Order: sequence, then C-alpha cells, then structure tokens
Amino acid sequence: MNKDSPIGVFDSGIGGLTVLHSIMDALPRENTVYLGDTARAPYGAKSVETVLRYSIENSEFLVEKGVKVVVVACNTSTAIALEHLRERLSVLVIGVIEPGVKRAVRSTRNKKVGVIGTEATIQSGAYTGALKAADGRIEVYSRACPLFAPLVEEGWTDNAVVEMTVKAYMGSLKQSGIDTLILGCTHYPLLKKAIRKYLGSSVRLVDSAEETALEVALALKKNMLAKMRGKGIHSFFVTDAPERFIKVGRRFLGEKVESAVRIER
Ligand code: DGL
Repeated sequence: MNKDSPIGVFDSGIGGLTVLHSIMDALPRENTVYLGDTARAPYGAKSVETVLRYSIENSEFLVEKGVKVVVVACNTSTAIALEHLRERLSVLVIGVIEPGVKRAVRSTRNKKVGVIGTEATIQSGAYTGALKAADGRIEVYSRACPLFAPLVEEGWTDNAVVEMTVKAYMGSLKQSGIDTLILGCTHYPLLKKAIRKYLGSSVRLVDSAEETALEVALALKKNMLAKMRGKGIHSFFVTDAPERFIKVGRRFLGEKVESAVRIER
C-alpha cells in the first residue's frame, strides 16, 4: 500500500456510486476500486448480524485489492459495522454518517434535525446517537423510507408516485419544524428535487455523499494523496451479473460505468 494505491469504496449495491461520484469530483487524480454487493442487496431490511458479516467480507475484499482507505458508502453498513471495521482493519476506514452529522450540526439553527434512511439505519439509532453526542440540545426526528431506494433504482425521481411517497413519509417531519434534513441513504441524493419541493427551500438538505467525499479528501491530504498525474483509473466489482449495474449505474455515477467484474460470493 502506498500513496498511489486506490481508494476502496463498498456499498450494498448500486447506490454507493453517489459517494464514488462525489469522491471522483473532489479527488479526480485518485484511482478507485468499487465493490457493489448486488447479489445480496438490499441491506436496509436485513438483520444486524447479516449486515455485519457482509460488511466485513466486502471490506476484506477491498483490503486484498491493496486500497489505502476503505470508504463505507452504505449508510446501513456504516450504522451497523463501522466501529467493528475500524477495529478489524489495518487501513483507514471512513463511513458516511459522521460527515453528514458534522454538516447538520453546523447547519441547524433551531436544533431540530431530521434523518431519513433505511429501516436498519434508523433502527440502529446511529444518526441519533451521533447527533446527540455532537450537541445534546439537538432534537432528532427520524423516519425510515424503505420505498425510496427501489423508486430511484427504477429511475423514478420526479413523478406523481414519487410526490405521493415523499408526502406520505415526510408529512410528520414537515410538521415537526426541522430546519435540516440528513439524506441518510445512498439513493436519496437523487430525490433532492422532490424532497425540496415538498419541504420547501427553508429546510437544508445534507447530502452524505458530498460530505463524505470532503472527509476523504481531508484525510488523504495529510500525506496520502496520489502522486500520479492525470485522471484516476476506476475499477468496478459486483457480486451478481454486471448488466443491471452497468445500465442503472449511470444514473448514480453521472457517467457510464464501462465494465464491471463479477466476483463469487
Ligand atoms: N446502500 C443502502 C444504504 O445507504 C441502501 C440500499 C440498501 O438497502 O441496501 O443504506
């Protein structure tokens, strides 16, 4: 492992490409290795033991690839497995929750912060715990939104079904008077427009993907930035047939995923 080693990113599947996208924007010269556990996604309704086991396997794969940092792009994995991975791995491990929480704490004026994510993420209490640890006066309003991820994967981000779903999930959050909302799931940055339309522009939306990329950049700037010139090389690995990942991946990455290698699980 050296400065030119890749940044490793894993997710339960496709959604983590939003995090990779932000990392590529923030650090265009870095090589990256992405693993999407597409065969076993979604993680959002799975048990703690299962998400933990999958997260360990994913990160060990990345470490074997010689990465200099493991980015846990999946909110569900971060909520359940981050501390465990930090103890277990010899490389730096960065999750998506702390960066989003830091931004939310800086952003809120009325100390009412909303969090949306998968069932497992919300049930873990990881966001609530981190927000409260950062500022005990913050009131946290959280809501699981399990239908959001499949809608986004279907390419539905801006139609009547999305509007109705946003309203159904976010009605009570709107009532609570939050001024900041953490988008605590890989897929939700693609729903920003619909969420903003419903909540109004006075509610600040925190994009965990962007905040995490800034955190990765900050960590690498200490003395781990790539020395290479030119654009980084990006490799993709998946645990199921790559076709759907390549097809749907463009929506999340903003550009085409040229190819992905299937690994056995
Ligand atoms: N990647 C997951 C997350 O950010 C969403 C999809 C899933 O449930 O696996 O929580």
